[in-house]
Amino acid sequence: MKIPQLPAPRGVRIAGTGSFTPDAILSNEDLSKMVDTSDEWIVQRTGIHRRHICEPNSEGTFSMANKALERAIEDAGIDPSTIDMIIVGTVTSEMTCPSTAARLTAACGATPAGAFDVSAACCGFMYSMNLGESLIRVGRANRVAVLGVDHMTSLMDYDDRSCSILFGDAAGAAILEAVDDPNRGSIHQTMHADGRGWGALYIPRKSGDIAENDTEEGIRLGCLRMNGREVYKFAVTKFQRAISSALEATGLEPDDVGIYICHQSNLRIIESAVEKLGLPEDRVYININEYGNTSAGSVGLCLDEVRKKKLVDESKPMLMVAFGGGMTWSSSVWNW
Ligand code: ACO
Repeated sequence: MKIPQLPAPRGVRIAGTGSFTPDAILSNEDLSKMVDTSDEWIVQRTGIHRRHICEPNSEGTFSMANKALERAIEDAGIDPSTIDMIIVGTVTSEMTCPSTAARLTAACGATPAGAFDVSAACCGFMYSMNLGESLIRVGRANRVAVLGVDHMTSLMDYDDRSCSILFGDAAGAAILEAVDDPNRGSIHQTMHADGRGWGALYIPRKSGDIAENDTEEGIRLGCLRMNGREVYKFAVTKFQRAISSALEATGLEPDDVGIYICHQSNLRIIESAVEKLGLPEDRVYININEYGNTSAGSVGLCLDEVRKKKLVDESKPMLMVAFGGGMTWSSSVWNW
């Protein structure tokens, strides 16, 4: 009997990207009419000026993901029936069954591609991209659509001023495909979680879910709970460590990287990494001012914008990094 040979490791390229943000805007001024806050406080503490938010009842996770994917397919110029797998990072899928990814196979014409959602909060896109890239690299798939999408405003308690000012809605998508050169694609990637800190960022569905040290009165079930100071401390440390470990593992100096795509959680968290690690400021992409923190949507949206704005220098690698609820963190160094 002749056992079939597995294909040799291949490389991966980004064949196309797409994103979607709703038209409706929630500005800092709007928020200051809803809770005790101000444009000055929000801009100083977070760098956020406005967010794009879904229209209630007509837009949501599935519709945003569908539009972002349609745009990525068009950008890649591919026949959607050639997609082998759809992976969607999200914590706001309309239903736990079916997954958003499964619904997308029918909507974009990719049946019977494999499809599943990944729950990794703000790391959703990074986890999806790392998984999709790995499937292609080992020869289990030739073409994978990876998405990050979150309808965060559906999780907001707009009486909670420390949390609700941060979030907006968005989707980002990328089509990954096999290439012969194994040096292309993710040359280093990490995916981590530490469940000990889950109570700093979570969505309780029933009263028994409420974290022991979350003692505030009147907690609204189904809304995002966040201990901002705890998350901030975690994020500042992990963000910097994820970037420095990625540089160390690949032997790159900060200046060797062509573009840094960081999860847009808070401008101060990104700025502190830029300062501590000496990253080239003009190559660290920022759009939090316009969209706020869009959770899993954030990295995919940035990736699409940097490609469309032609900010990519393909002779230099891209470094992507995210952290989120779980707590999770993830990185990837991408060789174009
Ligand atoms: N407007 C005005 N005042 C406010 C607001 C607001 N929106 N929110 C809080 N305050 C007040 C507080 O009540 C507090 O008042 P006090 O001193 O009288 O008690 C004061 O401002 C300072 O509050 P802090 O919580 O210490 O403010 P901080 O500087 O930490 O900023 C923030 C708060 C912006 C939430 C910050 O902690 C942060 O960014 N944390 C990380 C958040 C984050 O990244 N979350 C998402 C990560 S994971 C993911 O992306 C899903």
